[in-house]
Amino acid sequence: MNLLIMGLPGAGKGTQASKIVDEFGLIHISTGDMFRAAMANQTEMGKLAKSYIDKGDLVPDEVTNGIVKERLSQDDIKEKGFLLDGYPRTIDQAHALDKTLEELSLQLNGVINIDVNPESLIERLSGRIINKKTGETFHKVFNPPAGDYNEDDYYQREDDKPETVKRRLDVNIAQGQPIIDHYRKVGIVHDIKGDQEIPQVFVDIKKVIDSL
Ligand code: AP5
Ligand code: MG
Repeated sequence: MNLLIMGLPGAGKGTQASKIVDEFGLIHISTGDMFRAAMANQTEMGKLAKSYIDKGDLVPDEVTNGIVKERLSQDDIKEKGFLLDGYPRTIDQAHALDKTLEELSLQLNGVINIDVNPESLIERLSGRIINKKTGETFHKVFNPPAGDYNEDDYYQREDDKPETVKRRLDVNIAQGQPIIDHYRKVGIVHDIKGDQEIPQVFVDIKKVIDSL
């Protein structure tokens, strides 16, 4: 099974993706996670990505298309299936993905579109905390770590600063609609109400995937 998960910054793509891959054994391919790993390792690509990500802008398509194609070409993809998170994010990326999938004889089975009121996203992103050791994502209010947790064990993403968040939302709102329309034409988009509690969002997503 090969899926995309889409939604604005903070919609809950990463949160739901980790539940989906646990349940269905798919390979999680998050372009944001790949860029953050490259930034942490200070590779050339990481340095380039940082110059865009820190401003809330998109990394150029040719870079992003390249890393996704490379990952999709690996042997485990055909065996396990994939869940792409945060890609495609421009219509040109959607066309590049169509071409890559055709070349690799892979097919998309569904697009999970998490629909959230943009007004709630600032609050979600400003309260997001990530465990330094495990990389697991939480929220100070909506999804706090269990028990008495030590704030020093968690960090906030650089691009979750209010000025950057505003830019990220503007960029993604502008780019998103043509991509959804592109997949609606093929009839594979499944809209999920994202303004519900995390477990309920997953119940709805699981129903969709079970039906595919
Ligand atoms: P990326 O890492 O993909 O960031 P994003 O799309 O902005 O999305 P987020 O990861 O911020 O949000 P999410 O939807 O995963 O939400 P989460 O589950 O964490 O990309 C970062 C940057 O990399 C981009 O800005 C761009 O520069 C670059 N990039 C990446 N892909 C690219 C591409 N294809 N092309 C070009 N550039 C690219 O949840 C957020 C918070 O809300 C958490 O605290 C969570 O606990 C909480 N939460 C989740 N669900 C709920 C709920 N139902 N109710 C209440 N709280 C919730
Ligand atoms: Mg994410």
